[in-house]
Amino acid sequence: MEFNLESSFSQIINALSQIIALENHQRIFHAWRVAVLATEVARKITPEDINQVFYASLLHDVGTVSIDHNIFKQLSLAQQRAHPVILEHPVKGARIVQEIPGMEPAAEIIMDHHERWDGEGYPHHKRNEDINFGAQCLRIADAYDFYLQDNSQLDYDQAMHFLGEQKNKEFCSSVYEAFSEVLAHNQYCREINQDECLEEAFIELQQGLPRLQCQTKSDVIGVTLRVFARVIDTKHLYTSGHSQRVSQYSMLLAEAMHLDHDEISRIKWASLLHDAGKVAIPQSILNKPGPLNEEEFALVKRHPEITAEIIKYIDVFKNLVPTVRHHHEHFDGQGYPDKLETQQIPYLSRIITVADAFDAMTSPRPYQRMRSIQEALAELDRRKGSQFDGEIIDQAKEIFMALTV
Ligand SMILES: [Fe+2]
Ligand SMILES: [Fe+2]
Ligand SMILES: [Fe+2]
Ligand SMILES: [Fe+2]
Repeated sequence: MEFNLESSFSQIINALSQIIALENHQRIFHAWRVAVLATEVARKITPEDINQVFYASLLHDVGTVSIDHNIFKQLSLAQQRAHPVILEHPVKGARIVQEIPGMEPAAEIIMDHHERWDGEGYPHHKRNEDINFGAQCLRIADAYDFYLQDNSQLDYDQAMHFLGEQKNKEFCSSVYEAFSEVLAHNQYCREINQDECLEEAFIELQQGLPRLQCQTKSDVIGVTLRVFARVIDTKHLYTSGHSQRVSQYSMLLAEAMHLDHDEISRIKWASLLHDAGKVAIPQSILNKPGPLNEEEFALVKRHPEITAEIIKYIDVFKNLVPTVRHHHEHFDGQGYPDKLETQQIPYLSRIITVADAFDAMTSPRPYQRMRSIQEALAELDRRKGSQFDGEIIDQAKEIFMALTV
């Protein structure tokens, strides 16, 4: 199948920004405002980089999907540097973005977006010209947006005073001068926190940017899977190993059931992505050792729909939407999200359900005892016809038993 690479990578970027928005919509508004502001600064002082500054700003905190974004406002610089997740988020974000071909310069910007001109920033204590210049554009835009969030009644003189105090500390004077000029002449940027049509302004800006350069030989599917695996890793360490194993088990089952090559590829990708929607669930719930309350469980149950929601915007994965959406349906209609039953449940989803349950039972999880393969197979057998398709369980018993020898 032929895909337009440029639009495929834009779709991945959009999916990533969707992920930023999942836990808290304020985060994506912040990312849009920072993107608009930083791009305007870059237009003045480093116009050849505006594209990369724009995308880096949009994705600058993709490495913090696991924490509450307000924490940045609550913690002092010293506390931020002492907080392992915060300290690491520029590195994690850069690793995610550098997987996308053509976005390597944006990854470098993200890596340096908390470095400070005076060397007091993180993660590498860079100073002065060692810091990526695009990252300085992002730094000042980020600082201004935080200022606006704390001071919704804008006082322009006060804002300039606040930024002026950070000159040659947080950012260099040329970035400060350029940003002052942007604010002085651009009322929209000055009052960006009051804009109700921010998304439209953001899209319009994006459409006017120079095109992204992509290598023609890029492997879109491989790139997308790696990007998602990294995002999921950032949030939940166990999930990525889980998805890899579910993918292997599902493929073994699919081969044993003589599915054709295309279906085997589909099940491989769908199982690698099946729990991607868990990035929307707070870590405290996913790692809770005891039983979940009703509200928490309702949130966990939303993850197949969220996975479907994220991947439906990526052309190469659109056809996987039903498979991932229904991986928690039960054969007797008691599953979720749509309470489908028996043959209504897509066949590939029924296979993934079995592989998923087998891995959950045989891996260490905070909420349950790890079982032996024999115990897990007995449990699968017990739930034949209720949770699982009996035919698939019969195959699974043979295949999973062979894993012990
Ligand atoms: Fe950040
Ligand atoms: Fe930010
Ligand atoms: Fe799941
Ligand atoms: Fe799973």
